[in-house]
Amino acid sequence: MATQEETFKKLVAHCKEYGFVFPSSEIYDGLGAVYDYGQNGVELKNNIKRYWWDSMTLLHENIVGIDAAIFMHPTTWKASGHVDAFNDPLIDNRDSKKRYRADVLIEDQLAKIEEKINKEVEKAAKRFGDSFDEAMFRQTNPRVMEHQEHWNQLHERYSKAMNAGDLAELKQIILDEEIVCPISGTRNWTDVRQFNLMFQTEMGSTADGAMKIYLRPETAQGIFVNYLNVQKTGRMKIPFGIAQIGKAFRNEIVARQFVFRMREFEQMEMQFFIKPGTEMEWFKHWKEFRLKWHKALGLGDEKYRYHDHEKLAHYANAATDIEFLMPFGFKEVEGIHSRTNFDLSQHAKYSGKKIEYFDPELNESYTPFVIETSIGVDRMFLSIMCAAYKEEQLEGGDTRVVLNLPPVLAPVKACVMPLVKKDGLPEKAREVMDMLKFDFKTTYDEKDSIGKRYRRQDAIGTPFCITIDHDTLNDNCVTVRYRDTMAQDRVKIDELHEMIRKAVDMKQLYRKLMA
Ligand code: GAP
Repeated sequence: MATQEETFKKLVAHCKEYGFVFPSSEIYDGLGAVYDYGQNGVELKNNIKRYWWDSMTLLHENIVGIDAAIFMHPTTWKASGHVDAFNDPLIDNRDSKKRYRADVLIEDQLAKIEEKINKEVEKAAKRFGDSFDEAMFRQTNPRVMEHQEHWNQLHERYSKAMNAGDLAELKQIILDEEIVCPISGTRNWTDVRQFNLMFQTEMGSTADGAMKIYLRPETAQGIFVNYLNVQKTGRMKIPFGIAQIGKAFRNEIVARQFVFRMREFEQMEMQFFIKPGTEMEWFKHWKEFRLKWHKALGLGDEKYRYHDHEKLAHYANAATDIEFLMPFGFKEVEGIHSRTNFDLSQHAKYSGKKIEYFDPELNESYTPFVIETSIGVDRMFLSIMCAAYKEEQLEGGDTRVVLNLPPVLAPVKACVMPLVKKDGLPEKAREVMDMLKFDFKTTYDEKDSIGKRYRRQDAIGTPFCITIDHDTLNDNCVTVRYRDTMAQDRVKIDELHEMIRKAVDMKQLYRKLMA
């Protein structure tokens, strides 16, 4: 059995081999934590974006979309707090000259302790078999209790230091826990410093007095600065939302785990403007709706969990992550934040403009509160790929790699294959393709044996392979081979369109969301 780490490495290699994700500017040896999406990756990503966009704007008549510029007036970032507070605690190892996030080093240490506990539990479960009482074991086993006590103390100390922004204490924790640099193996650490994650550039020529501007680290601020424009021109009534999909940039200190943490990535964010005092009710609503959105894809309900934040961002009064079980543990894919009226108030203060809502029911004006849902497209992409990637042992000793992608998201919906390249079969196959291609992403493949062609489609997650054979010319039927079961059916050409539509129609997901 391959370890999770080995499977993840294989997935990364698979993404490259089958045109999903390439390292950026690879011919120049790539660029750290920047990736390009290939021909299949972009289709999958576009389908994810469409699922999100429609779930927000189509299913909610009070949510509209925008597409704001990446460049924004620099005061935006002063007002939002990013210039002063969008920092990560950074620490260097003097021997390896490697740079780390101090919080990540400590979180890794916490994870190691958790792993020790889990190993003890697993060992005992094997030993005791059916009679094993896990809860009792955790409460009474001396080794587990010792590790748990260590974990609790470290966690409390770490949370306190993070909440207080106490950099000296973070360093002391690293020293006390005897955390070593994974490269040099030494504890020769510098002090912890704050590092701002925003990329800077200049706008205009220097002679004219260039303006220092930032690449946006989140798309949300493009929504806040357009709140008045949209509310007025759309005659929006509270509660209402503004949705946006776009690129964001962060100069991450430790960029790792493939597209999980990138320096250029894409977000899908929605700000929901509400009456002050109703935020907890709406926070709960969006928390539930967003989890439903994830689960509707059918990747496995057990792969998701909420994680409530202990350390709240500078703008939030409640926050939860939706985490997905990646091969490297449960990890954040989406954040739901109750952002109070922080952003709108700050923009009002810094711009000198009145940014409020006149509530006709209350006959008064107020600064709306905001619930935000914020999901990374790339992390969503990764979670889907991790859940879909399977290496299967087949009868007869053969193996296959298959992506069990939800058919609605699959990059290619059907591949049309003439059994041989002669006898009029390619022409018939083209006819079938022409019938399908306006509605579904369809490809054509006539090279190699049918078996090899099936494998190629399995590897990119195509739900249907359609083979045209000599009988097709007489009976107008084709052989449909299904990706997941590998079963085959004879299907009338006239019924193909409806069969594929039923399987890949996003409406089935929308109905689940509205149920
Ligand atoms: N507007 C709120 C906000 O940006 P966040 O938790 O910093 O909140 C939201 O980011 C989502 O963006 C995350 O849940 C994650 O999916 C994605 N994300 C954040 N940083 C990322 C990175 N460096 N690479 C890939 N995705 C990232």
